[in-house]
Amino acid sequence: MNRLFFLTFFCTVLTAQAQVSPSLQAKIDKMAAELEPKVIEWRRHFHQNPELSNREFKTAEKVAEHLRSLGIETRTGIAHTGVVGLLKGDKPGPVIALRADMDALPVTERNNLPFKSNVTATYAGMETGVMHACGHDTHVAILMGVAEILAKNRNQLRGTVKFIFQPAEEGPPPGEEGGAELMVKEGVLENPKVDVIFGMHIQSISKLGTISYKEAGMMAASDWFTIKVKGRQAHGAAPWMSVDPVVVSAQIINALQTIVSRQMDLTHEPVVVTVARINAGIRENIIPEEAVMSGTIRTLDKEMQATVHEKIRRIATGIAETAGAVAEVTFDGKTPVTYNDPDLTARMLPALERAAGKDKVVRINAVTGAEDFAFFQEKVPGFFFFVGARPPDLDPNTTPSHHTPDFMIDESALITGLKAMLNVTLHYMYSAGK
Ligand code: NI
Repeated sequence: MNRLFFLTFFCTVLTAQAQVSPSLQAKIDKMAAELEPKVIEWRRHFHQNPELSNREFKTAEKVAEHLRSLGIETRTGIAHTGVVGLLKGDKPGPVIALRADMDALPVTERNNLPFKSNVTATYAGMETGVMHACGHDTHVAILMGVAEILAKNRNQLRGTVKFIFQPAEEGPPPGEEGGAELMVKEGVLENPKVDVIFGMHIQSISKLGTISYKEAGMMAASDWFTIKVKGRQAHGAAPWMSVDPVVVSAQIINALQTIVSRQMDLTHEPVVVTVARINAGIRENIIPEEAVMSGTIRTLDKEMQATVHEKIRRIATGIAETAGAVAEVTFDGKTPVTYNDPDLTARMLPALERAAGKDKVVRINAVTGAEDFAFFQEKVPGFFFFVGARPPDLDPNTTPSHHTPDFMIDESALITGLKAMLNVTLHYMYSAGK
């Protein structure tokens, strides 16, 4: 009896140490509720003043000013316009990175909002409207809010929080480097060395107030591929004089369909192979010398990714060879898999449930879109999740998707995002080393 009592007591003490205290929780909840109007105000400011990838100058300036006003050690100009803040807690503990992407898109807003964007810019030589059509304005505002609340609770923090405000998630303009990949290259995960990273994305199509996630591969790796088929040019009237790269390309495109349908174990993870572009020839009566096709591959598993590459190469070169042509295959890896460390994901679920409510945290299927947060997760364990923000009056089947002129979110999702990021941070800190 005594021994049992002692054991129970001992366990209780241990558990208590490994959890965020109810008083701190209550305090954080209260502060989040109080800060909500300010977070919305920031979001509206960024929404009205969007900036394209690698051009987030004003956004970065406002972020840096805010971090400095909170006494957070702040560095700017990382990976072009990135801002990194370092908040050291009073107690020792892990280094936790929190990431928000800052860039907008070359999309002309069609919404009727008082804070609608009327900004224009030149992109790839074309005049275009600029819009936060992926909701990165909400990410910046939320992380500014997280920084404010954590900075005001520095004495309760165990370890260090690194705030990463990232440029160019949508991809840098042609000819430039950028995004998470460049941030990693410039050492953003070092000094101090990051132990874990968290990130979120607002979702216009998911139910308001929900948080969705998937362990392991959540968002796909995106690779681009190019197949150049070299044949022999001839008069269109005398095909027997040619090695026709157009016919060879048609055979290759057909055969590539069998990678997904016949050659990959789709019960493990889905795979997408899309040929999206094909260029050949100049005139109806000339069989060209060359045809070039390109497309994208989406995978959720590294081994499957390597296998798909090998199969594309084999099919293209093999078919070309049977026709007496030559196929050159090149791959351009764009983004790795957004891979949620399974242990970390399981460990963070209670924190998300705390933020959104137990029935609002939903496990989803993988998404074939890509997210450059994956570059951080290649280096350190990370967890990425979605925060649902579909305006309740919109039909889920016709809600405008991300990257469109009518993209719209319900701002009451902001506090869910704010609480989620606060909760995972504190939960990780207080359960570190457990
Ligand atoms: Ni996005």
